[in-house]
Amino acid sequence: MAMDKKRYQVSTSIYYFSGTGNSLVVARDIAEKLEGKLIAIPLAIKEENTYPEGDTLGIVFPVYHQGLPNIINRFIAKLDNIPEKYIFGVCTYGDSPGISLEYLAENIKAKGGKLSAGFTVKMPYNYVTPSLVLKDFFRSFKLRDLNPDQCQKMYHDWQKKLGYIYEIIKNKKKGEIETAARAIEKTVDYLNLRETLQKKIWLKIANFRGSTDCSFRDSVQLMDYGFQWDDKCNGCGTCVKVCPVNNIKMGKNRPIWQHHCEQCFACLQWCPQEAIQFSKNTFYGKRYHHPDVTLSDLIHS
Ligand SMILES: Cc1cc2nc3c(=O)[nH]c(=O)nc-3n(C[C@H](O)[C@H](O)[C@H](O)COP(=O)(O)O)c2cc1C
Ligand code: SF4
Ligand code: SF4
Repeated sequence: MAMDKKRYQVSTSIYYFSGTGNSLVVARDIAEKLEGKLIAIPLAIKEENTYPEGDTLGIVFPVYHQGLPNIINRFIAKLDNIPEKYIFGVCTYGDSPGISLEYLAENIKAKGGKLSAGFTVKMPYNYVTPSLVLKDFFRSFKLRDLNPDQCQKMYHDWQKKLGYIYEIIKNKKKGEIETAARAIEKTVDYLNLRETLQKKIWLKIANFRGSTDCSFRDSVQLMDYGFQWDDKCNGCGTCVKVCPVNNIKMGKNRPIWQHHCEQCFACLQWCPQEAIQFSKNTFYGKRYHHPDVTLSDLIHS
């Protein structure tokens, strides 16, 4: 009886957030190797406080706008009982992880914990980027054309990095907090460019016409003004189900966004009809999700 109890004790809790599956695959692979418990952050934050089980805690998330998704900040604010734990973070990114793991370390420190290792994993980019910046900046933000061979290489490279990460976490070693373009990101922070420039640019790209005093990070929730459905929409409701933060309601059989968005792009990327567009710039863009993840893997209801 005592042995059974021991066998089912959780030693590692791995919390993840993911819109198109890259971070879910990373979290799932680590959880499998460590025989850890995998928990979706959108479910965990529904509780008043989060008490992770076991002595090891992992947090896996995608990089958003060179930083943390808002939901990660909210999740860490709810974490309790972490000072004694071995904590690691993993971010997936498309171009550059910046110093998002340093932001994670700061947030964890504010809760009395310590980020012992932070790993970056390059994965296919799932957001919009400018294509013809000089020609027409604000109209040029399109989905990226992903090269299948390059995607396969990234999936393959992840499997190689998994072994390296596993050795560090298993032995609870202190690892590097991996960053890129640190000097640039620190300068951007120092000059406050996210508040003075980045916020204005992105809200314009997202067709937000009002005014707001909120911070750049908070303004992300308003970027769903950029979403619209087109005449391919058949009212199936998949977008409502896949949204991790209940930000979509159906009205007259069509989605209506509620302006507390995470910008995870799950609604746009998983719509079976490819009927969701972002600022008229995504009509011809090919949709993406990680091939090893299904829609039901990502529905957190
Ligand atoms: C709103 C948003 C912002 C993003 N910003 C960045 C970024 O600043 N740097 C980067 O390298 N990738 C960025 N990406 C790409 C994602 O980090 C990357 O594709 C990630 O692997 C997606 O993970 P997921 O499939 O788990 O959602 C962004 C994606 C989204 C949706
Ligand atoms: S998932 Fe696509 S087709 Fe289905 S309701 Fe949403 S927008 Fe319409
Ligand atoms: S509305 Fe779309 S982009 Fe925003 S959080 Fe929901 S699924 Fe993600």
